[in-house]
Amino acid sequence: MSVTVRVPAKVNAQLAVGGVRPDGYHDLANVFLAVGLYDEVTVTPAASLTLTCAGPGAEQVPLDRTNLAARAAELLAARHGISPDVHIHIDKDIPVAGGMAGGSADGAGALLACDALWGLGSSRDELLSLCAELGSDVPFSLVGGAALGTGRGERLTELEVRGTFHWVFAMADGGLSTPVVFGEFDRLNSAVAVPDPVASPALLEALRTGDAAALAGALVNDLQPAALSLRPSLSETLATGMSAGALACLVSGSGPTTAFLTKDEDAAGAVASVMVASGTCRAARVAAGPVRGATVVSS
Ligand code: C5P
Repeated sequence: MSVTVRVPAKVNAQLAVGGVRPDGYHDLANVFLAVGLYDEVTVTPAASLTLTCAGPGAEQVPLDRTNLAARAAELLAARHGISPDVHIHIDKDIPVAGGMAGGSADGAGALLACDALWGLGSSRDELLSLCAELGSDVPFSLVGGAALGTGRGERLTELEVRGTFHWVFAMADGGLSTPVVFGEFDRLNSAVAVPDPVASPALLEALRTGDAAALAGALVNDLQPAALSLRPSLSETLATGMSAGALACLVSGSGPTTAFLTKDEDAAGAVASVMVASGTCRAARVAAGPVRGATVVSS
């Protein structure tokens, strides 16, 4: 018997970052949108906790206990005084270390899958609190849809969204480490007083009304200067998508994946073709959101 959970990627329509806190984290106003690129996490009873991963970039995914999926299984098992004896297989489609919460998706997926496999019947709140222990973006991977994350990003308020927004994601070679990008943010802002992060009312209104042009005018990522400083070639990737007809562009989360908002599905297809032909990215994918969060697809 096994359980498979499908978990979406995310893009941050707004990532407002405050100054560094005493605990090393940053307060955020983080507007998450779940988009239709998915990892699938399958758990099967085994003699001990083991992990495999297949798909693009799988060779960069750690297969030891540092993987969030393994940590999720251990955390849930420890909470219930049982042994985490499962094999976890990750079918990866979310870019690895790309700023689209692929690792967090696997953590949320493994948690939900193990809960079902072991028949624990944890409440949504119990699962959410375990997700928050695993990482700042993990609760959103469980919930999906659209949400504002505050605190270090883990405290979620669901957001109302009308219709669907169409995106193109341009994958870059190699990844960017989230802590390194936050460190570069601190370095770039060391001489200024960083304001408290606040969600943009214009952006929330654009989501509520389903207005892609208004959303385009409000997209913002405070980590973008840091990601561009570490990976200057991303500027050319962003410019290519804009000249191909995107409404707006930004670095996704801590990067190096770049995100392009388009007016509809056809425009997204056209932008993706130009991106691939341009050679300014490794691959380009079309995805729409919001979509639902972690979901059991077979058991
Ligand atoms: O919470 P998570 O383990 O995903 O965070 C990874 C790293 O990203 C943290 O160790 C920290 O360096 C950085 N981070 C941060 N502020 C946040 C979220 C993450 O500085 N709100």
